[in-house]
Amino acid sequence: MKTVTDIENMQSYAEKTRREGKVIALVPTMGFLHEGHLSLIRMADKAADLVVTSIYVNPTQFGPSEDVDQYPRDIDHDTTLAQQAGTDVLFVPTDKAMYPQGYQTFVTAEKLTRSLCGAFRPTHFRGVTTIVTKLFNIVKPHIAIFGQKDAQQAIVIRQMTRDLNFDVEIKVAPIIRHEDGLAMSSRNKYLTPQQRSEAPVLYQSLCEAQKMIEGGERNPNVVKKYTQKMIDTIASSKIDYIEIVDAVTLEAVREIKGNILIALAVYIGKARLIDNILIKV
Ligand code: PAF
Repeated sequence: MKTVTDIENMQSYAEKTRREGKVIALVPTMGFLHEGHLSLIRMADKAADLVVTSIYVNPTQFGPSEDVDQYPRDIDHDTTLAQQAGTDVLFVPTDKAMYPQGYQTFVTAEKLTRSLCGAFRPTHFRGVTTIVTKLFNIVKPHIAIFGQKDAQQAIVIRQMTRDLNFDVEIKVAPIIRHEDGLAMSSRNKYLTPQQRSEAPVLYQSLCEAQKMIEGGERNPNVVKKYTQKMIDTIASSKIDYIEIVDAVTLEAVREIKGNILIALAVYIGKARLIDNILIKV
C-alpha cells in the first residue's frame, strides 16, 4: 500500500490506472477506522483492481459548535488497518490542499438535505457533497462505497451523482454492529463506560419499532412515541430526532406502508449517535 498526500500525485496515479483499463474503487472516510469502514474496504477490494481509501476530517461538514477539533484521529493505526483490509492507496490530503486560501465553491443538494440530520446540522450535507465531489475529481473512481449507517448521506450522494452526471457507481454497505447491537461509529469513543453500556438501547428501540410494525401498527406517531420512551430511559440522552420516513424521498409518512426508513439521531452524553433500520411493509 502506498500513502499519497498530494492531490496532483493522486490524480496522475488515478489517470494512469484508468489508462491501464483497471477499475478504481473509492472508500471515503474521516479515519479512526473501525470494522464498519473495513467492511467497506473489503467490499471495494472485491469490486475493483485498485482500492483507494481516503482519510480526511472534512472541516466544512462540521458546524461552528461541533466536534471537528476533537474528532478522533489515529493515522498510524488507520494505516495498518486500511492495508490489512485491502487498500492499495491511502489518500490523506491536508486542509491546505483541499481548501486553499480563496476557496469558494460548494455543491448543494436541496430537498433531501432539509430533513433528518439536515434539519439539525444545516451546513453538514453541503460540506459532504462538496468534499465527495472533490474526491471524485481527484481519485476518479468507477465505484464509490458508503455505509448504510449514514442512510441520508448515501441517498444524498446518489442524488448528487445522478444530478451532476458523475460516472461513478454508488454502492451502499450494510451497518456493522457490535455484539450488543450498537452501530459501529468513530464517535462511540466519546462514550463513558456507563453510557457505552446504555447505548445499545438505540438499536433495541429500532428493533421494537420494527416488531410493532410487523405486529400491524401503522401509525408512525404511536411507533415514534414508544421508541422515544425507550431512549428516554438513558439518563444522559437527548433526542435530536426519531423519524419514520419514505426510504426514497426521506419525507415523513402519515401511514406506515411501502419502503420505510426509521432513523434516529440521539446525543448520549457528548456523542451524537445515528442509527436506522429499513423496513418493507
Ligand atoms: O461518512 C463520512 O465519514 C464522511 O461524511 C465522508 C463521506 C467521508 C465525507 O467526509
